[in-house]
Amino acid sequence: MNTTYQPSPRRYESGMAYARCGRSGVMLPRISLGLWQNFGATVSLDHSRGLCRYAFDHGITHFDLANNYGPPPGSAEETMGRLLATDFAAHRDELFLSTKAGYEMWPGPYGNWGSRKSLMASIDQSLGRLGVDYVDLFYIHRYDPLTPIEETLRAMVDIVRQGKALYLGISRWPLEATRQAFDYLAAHDTPALIYQGRLNLLDRAPQTEGITALCREAGVGFISFSPLAQGLLTDRYLHGVPADSRLARSGSLRPEMLTPELLSQLKTWNEEAATQGQTLAEMALRWVLQQEAVTSVIVGASSVEQLAVNLGALAEKP
Ligand SMILES: NC(=O)c1ccc[n+]([C@@H]2O[C@H](COP(=O)([O-])OP(=O)(O)OC[C@H]3O[C@@H](n4cnc5c(N)ncnc54)[C@H](OP(=O)(O)O)[C@@H]3O)[C@@H](O)[C@H]2O)c1
Repeated sequence: MNTTYQPSPRRYESGMAYARCGRSGVMLPRISLGLWQNFGATVSLDHSRGLCRYAFDHGITHFDLANNYGPPPGSAEETMGRLLATDFAAHRDELFLSTKAGYEMWPGPYGNWGSRKSLMASIDQSLGRLGVDYVDLFYIHRYDPLTPIEETLRAMVDIVRQGKALYLGISRWPLEATRQAFDYLAAHDTPALIYQGRLNLLDRAPQTEGITALCREAGVGFISFSPLAQGLLTDRYLHGVPADSRLARSGSLRPEMLTPELLSQLKTWNEEAATQGQTLAEMALRWVLQQEAVTSVIVGASSVEQLAVNLGALAEKP
């Protein structure tokens, strides 16, 4: 693929909507692109490039990464680093890049969880792979029950003070610890920008557990990961399991998750969506986007065609 890329001059008029993230100054696209899967070293650079170009040409400015995304771990950030150096070199200030640390990344006792030792090393590694001086958003990827939360949060505040991240986020923390984190970060003049949790038609835990209500009260944004339940909330599995699908790869989406009851529910929703002139994926994304405190959804896509369908969720319906 040609590496000389001129983004569409109409990229901010292509139907993308932007929402304010909590009480911050940051606007995020209502649909963001996640690079957890389909973006590592096992996928061709041209494929990844095509996906990112399409996203950017359609107003997606926010790309979500983590130190361990790949496979292998680190390779998604390396792919983004290559694209930043070529396609997006002139557009860094139009992009909102997030990364995370907290899951297993390198061997030994320091490559995992939420110690100061681990976070400080991880952010430097991420900046190196991405080839940037700073990321826009740095998350603690999961709650570490054994490290004092003040140690984790102090390290995150210092990462901002050192200019390595502009904003901080919390991902998948339980309610009480999240409340403490929001209080701690606000008291240290680096208020949490956003909470990242799984919210979709099949998993409403952030609502039932009180996370979305807390975000609203605290003026913190909420961003949903896996809004399509890793592809279940699309037409992908309605007529069998395609060989190239995430479920067939048997990694994070396991065959036993697609029970006959669930399949029947998905078919009912699919019919309902069709009567409203939309796809199941569009209906599922619209539902998340309408929920309290939701700033954005982070979709994954293994093809440009899937991303195009998902962007349809922002179109006005007659
Ligand atoms: N904070 C965390 O702990 C955490 C955890 C998970 C994810 N995340 C973030 O959230 C992002 C999104 O997660 P996700 O990939 O699970 O999101 P998702 O949007 O729920 O699922 C994406 C998958 O669904 C299928 N798909 C997407 N659009 C489709 C369409 N229109 N028609 C048919 N199939 C479609 C594709 O699977 P196929 O491969 O089968 O084509 C695609 O890879 C990640 O990239 C990551 O940035 C964060």
